[in-house]
Amino acid sequence: MNFILSVIISLIAVVVVILIPWVGVGAFDLRVLFGIVIPYAAISIFIVGIVVKVLDWGRSPVPFRIPTTAGQEWSFPWIKTNPVDNPKGKGGVIVRMLFEVLLFRSLFRNTRLEYTFKDGTAKIDHEWEKWLWLAALLFHWSFLVIFLRHFRFFVQQIPGFVHLLESLDGFLQLGVLPVTGFGVPDVYLTDLLLLIAIAYLFIRRLYIPHMRFISLPADYFPLLLIFSLGISGVLMRYFIRVDITVVKEFAVGFFKFSPKAPEGIGVIFYIHLFILCVLIAYFPFSKLMHFAGVFLSPTRNLSNNNRFVRHVNPWDYPVKTHTYEEYEDEFREKMVEAGLPVDKQIETT
Ligand code: HEM
Repeated sequence: MNFILSVIISLIAVVVVILIPWVGVGAFDLRVLFGIVIPYAAISIFIVGIVVKVLDWGRSPVPFRIPTTAGQEWSFPWIKTNPVDNPKGKGGVIVRMLFEVLLFRSLFRNTRLEYTFKDGTAKIDHEWEKWLWLAALLFHWSFLVIFLRHFRFFVQQIPGFVHLLESLDGFLQLGVLPVTGFGVPDVYLTDLLLLIAIAYLFIRRLYIPHMRFISLPADYFPLLLIFSLGISGVLMRYFIRVDITVVKEFAVGFFKFSPKAPEGIGVIFYIHLFILCVLIAYFPFSKLMHFAGVFLSPTRNLSNNNRFVRHVNPWDYPVKTHTYEEYEDEFREKMVEAGLPVDKQIETT
């Protein structure tokens, strides 16, 4: 698909996602639908979708050990091994998974083929994609921190870790926003990092020719959706203030299963919520499932013990065999008659 078409389709989809609650709540006051029905439906789709997918993946046969090995395997005591990149047992696998999930280690090691032409000769280089790794890491960690900070809305008693995150994240005490001149609450670093990282990931897909070539609406859409989720949140915090006590009352009631559609709150809140609903309902059907898939990836979660543990295919069924002895017993007379050598001679009495 042409990349311009892919971007346009994704942009239109996100604009529609924003317009639906804008019109629904702004013009038709459908607060119960957008504040209660859709969020519960989205969470149900999210949970059921993930469980079904993970069970399906869990049932997939993995008869052989296929870990990616990127270091010396365990063999003789005098050969130095690499227990993380070539894990021998569970301990190594756990460390490897932690590196993968928390620091995106395989992305860190990832390189890109670059062709350069100089004086009529082509040169091939392996470029380290450090900016991709950095942007991916910043984006995921910022998202997590923002999500954790939101617990001040979700539970009555604000947990201690939220205060800690807020003070660490909000150390940029800008006070007055230079663009508007308005006094603003502490600017959260993760808000800036999230938006910058997504913008980078999006532009990278447009800028690098082969990324442009392989990118589909399924690649652009989630980026744009998360970007608009962030922008709507930033708008609420720094520009179009909403009543936080009403939000908290709504969120606490929602998670206690006694929801009340929030009243007297700006449409921007419903837009924020609806974007999130679309994101989580779309999640199980999208590439975002790598979030669960990384834990089930056999190239990461298996130890490399092929050399010292015999792995028997669990689906091996008993095969009917016909040994040479049985063959000779069956055809001995004919073989002797034809002058062929036999292991056991015909007994004569
Ligand atoms: C994982 C999902 C979510 C993401 C990524 C997200 C993102 C954001 C961001 C980036 C902000 C800007 C300020 C900040 O960082 O705190 C924000 C603010 C806000 N979000 Fe979310 N949000 C999410 C879920 C929710 C939910 C479920 C609610 C409803 C209960 C909500 C309600 C709000 C409100 C009321 C603000 C304004 C906060 C303020 O004025 O201090 N968000 N959101």
